[in-house]
Amino acid sequence: MGGHPLFDVTDKCGYVTGGGSGIGRAIALGLAEAGAAVIVSDINLPAAENVVAEIHARGGRAYAVRTDVARKAEVEELVQLTTARFGRLDFAFHNAGILRITKPEEIGEEEWREELEVDLTSVFWCCQAAGRYMIAHGGGKIVNTASISGMIVNSGLTYSTAKAGVIQLTRVLAFRWARHRVFVNCISPGYIRTAMTAPHLARPGVEQEMLRQTPLRRLGEPRDIVGAALFLVAPASDFVTGHNLVVDGGVTLA
Ligand SMILES: NC(=O)c1ccc[n+]([C@@H]2O[C@H](COP(=O)([O-])OP(=O)(O)OC[C@H]3O[C@@H](n4cnc5c(N)ncnc54)[C@H](O)[C@@H]3O)[C@@H](O)[C@H]2O)c1
Repeated sequence: MGGHPLFDVTDKCGYVTGGGSGIGRAIALGLAEAGAAVIVSDINLPAAENVVAEIHARGGRAYAVRTDVARKAEVEELVQLTTARFGRLDFAFHNAGILRITKPEEIGEEEWREELEVDLTSVFWCCQAAGRYMIAHGGGKIVNTASISGMIVNSGLTYSTAKAGVIQLTRVLAFRWARHRVFVNCISPGYIRTAMTAPHLARPGVEQEMLRQTPLRRLGEPRDIVGAALFLVAPASDFVTGHNLVVDGGVTLA
């Protein structure tokens, strides 16, 4: 028995940035498991290669590429490499990110610049490079990883500012590119157990506080994001654009 045709991604090709770890890894594995061909891109090439090896071991199609998303030229190269390999670009997943938690009164110039560059500016250059190709080739689906931190106050100031920017950038691009059939959506995860959150979760009381804020009373695992990712890449979302799909166990309800 096959899956539902609305969730069929077996003929889809694309890339995932920050695909070497955590949520990006889960998305790459999940899309490949569903039959898509995936370029796993990360600044950490060995991490991307490990994910590709996992995908190959399960019979999927994947390739590893090193990309520093903070460098516009490397992002453009990623789109070129993907389209050269597959001859198309059905989905572009912009997920790479970093998290610094510094008091607003102590944030320095370099930290501000670096975090905005990786968490916001890179998302725009990625969208622009993927969008240009998709506009010229009949459309496609762009998905950005935002965060509930872009919606509520719960994290570092720079991070939250960047993520709020990702949500709005997603809406503007969705509006502008709808006539080209370029879909632009984002996912806002809640508290997910990954390398990014591990150091914070290790601090006394933090995990309890995250659980207290989460009505479903558990932390998310990277795999909890896969359903949303699959939906936003598959034909099931063919009338959905500019949406911020919140996957947070209910944190933002209260
Ligand atoms: N974990 C959470 O609770 C949570 C919640 C909301 C949103 N997010 C977002 O999800 C995304 C993935 O985070 P995660 O929790 O899986 O973290 P993670 O640290 O496990 O993975 C992030 C990946 O991005 C890569 N990366 C970092 N800087 C990069 C750069 N300049 N160029 C290319 N790759 C780079 C890292 O090497 C790593 O593989 C991020 O955008 C993050 O902000 C995470």
